[in-house]
Amino acid sequence: MPAVSFQNVSKTYRGGQVKALDGVSFDIAQGEFFGLLGPNGAGKTSLISILAGLSQASGGRVEVLGHDVVGDYAAARRALGIVPQELVFDPFFSVRESLKIQSGYFGVRNNEAWIDELLHELGLSDKANANMRQLSGGMKRRVLVAQALVHRPPVIVLDEPTAGVDVELRQTLWQFIARLNREGHTVLLTTHYLEEAEALCGRLAMLKQGRIVALDRTSDLLRGRAATMLRFKTDDTLPAELQAQARVTGRIVQIKAHDASDVEALLAVLRAAQCRVEDLEIGRADLEDVFLEIMQGEPAQQGVTA
Ligand SMILES: Nc1ncnc2c1ncn2[C@@H]1O[C@H](COP(=O)(O)OP(=O)(O)OP(=O)(O)O)[C@@H](O)[C@H]1O
Ligand SMILES: [Mg+2]
Repeated sequence: MPAVSFQNVSKTYRGGQVKALDGVSFDIAQGEFFGLLGPNGAGKTSLISILAGLSQASGGRVEVLGHDVVGDYAAARRALGIVPQELVFDPFFSVRESLKIQSGYFGVRNNEAWIDELLHELGLSDKANANMRQLSGGMKRRVLVAQALVHRPPVIVLDEPTAGVDVELRQTLWQFIARLNREGHTVLLTTHYLEEAEALCGRLAMLKQGRIVALDRTSDLLRGRAATMLRFKTDDTLPAELQAQARVTGRIVQIKAHDASDVEALLAVLRAAQCRVEDLEIGRADLEDVFLEIMQGEPAQQGVTA
């Protein structure tokens, strides 16, 4: 039985004007660390909201450990720990109180030891008695993570959990989530930090305009696409024939090369155009390269009015 099963899920908003999800189907096996990637507006949060029972699909079916999220809502919800993208919290309670209330909501009693461990692991021990409204944005997000984990759910869903979170907590958070994953928890993660997804996720799905455009093991996605990247800095304008294939960030330019002779040909074009190149590097493609290639390569879906 899969941990999560999405079966032909669709979602439209505003009476069908906005098609946020269009026939999304995939399963996440128990114990997987799974990444759901896609640009802003691709439909990631819409899919997670349906999984969480917060919004209803326009079509299709979603199951958590065999429980239909509509027909068997309570069991499906209990199996899930969800860290929402939006910061939602009750300003009247302290951190510890809000975790106790969340425990009570799931019928978990005598949860003090686990609450203490969560506070410790998430660097919140010294904020346990602080009021929620006294916390910084990053700390509120840590509390959301603790709230999601308070009933030790078998399936952990994180919708951009590291947005606005400092480097140190990102590292401790991922160590902690990776430990829970090793202990058997299934993890579904969305993030725009593609190096996080590359490091953590065994398998990835990429969503574009509500459709799955890639679904594979992370290692196979990296191997199967752009193999080699030429990276350099320049203040000059790139020759026209390279502009279409280059990815430019400020003065940093990255161009895909298939093999060594491709690299030589690219350098020859740059030299002929008298384009001065600094800090030249030849490296392997990373997930960001693969992501951009897939997003640019797939034709836009029809019938979407954003
Ligand atoms: N309540 C809503 N009413 C109308 N349209 C909505 C609503 N929620 C989402 N949408 C639309 O559905 C599409 C998918 O949005 P969604 O929030 O699922 O994207 P996302 O992949 O999570 O993006 P991001 O990376 O920015 O979080 C977008 O076009 C969005 O404008
Ligand atoms: Mg989102």
